[in-house]
Amino acid sequence: MEVVALSSDLEVATVAADVIESIVRRHPEAVVGLATGSTPGPTYRELIRRHQSDQGPDYDRVQVFILDEYVGLAPNHPKSYRQTIARELTDDLGLAPDRVHGPDMSDVREAGSRYESKITGVGGIDIQLLGIGTDGHLAFNEPGSSLASLTRLKTLTPETRRDNARFFACSEDVPRHAITQGLGTIQRARQLLLIATGAAKAGAIAAAVEGPLTSSCPASVIQLHPHATVLVDFDAASGLRRLEYYRHVYETKPDWKSI
Ligand code: PGA
Repeated sequence: MEVVALSSDLEVATVAADVIESIVRRHPEAVVGLATGSTPGPTYRELIRRHQSDQGPDYDRVQVFILDEYVGLAPNHPKSYRQTIARELTDDLGLAPDRVHGPDMSDVREAGSRYESKITGVGGIDIQLLGIGTDGHLAFNEPGSSLASLTRLKTLTPETRRDNARFFACSEDVPRHAITQGLGTIQRARQLLLIATGAAKAGAIAAAVEGPLTSSCPASVIQLHPHATVLVDFDAASGLRRLEYYRHVYETKPDWKSI
């Protein structure tokens, strides 16, 4: 696992955009897993800025899989994650809607297994962008989620519903359930890129990166992944005990070794 502490959320966005672009340049048909929430916003805006100024790669042949989706919102609901990712990124990158995939919510009972089959059917996810919850959740895998779990229904914790209330008119509107890629699903992606910014994430980042591997901090599962990178701003990095070492690793990295 590589941990990179950067000075600001914009620097996190620049490096995250570099990583995603380099994969798409190498594999124009890359399968990219994307997260929703506030944290990826600057990264998405940076990808769009570069694409629209002809500095970015072509995304026509890329396929996107979102991490999770709320249960109970109509497919065209503006707060559904499928709509959110289209609005915040994929429309502006020129991706056709049929290349942007989310769980099929027409049958919630089958949605998990169908989504797993869809991901497997395209050959798996090349890079998965991840945020982290203040409670250490990854996608909607709340504390206690099996480290081997696959895409399925999860019940959101009160903390997550409180955190996400800002996206809705009132906290009661936040759905209680979601279909989420499991921790086992996320582990199958060939590369993980976890981004976190702000002091509110410092405890969760410290637990995920330096705490024990435990379902009590679902994001700690990234410790098992052979190619996981954590990009944090200084605030989110502030709880890390080995911060000086991570800085040293990044500063002395050989030129040929990319993220
Ligand atoms: P945020 O959410 O980016 O809006 O903080 C992250 C998460 O809950 O996984």
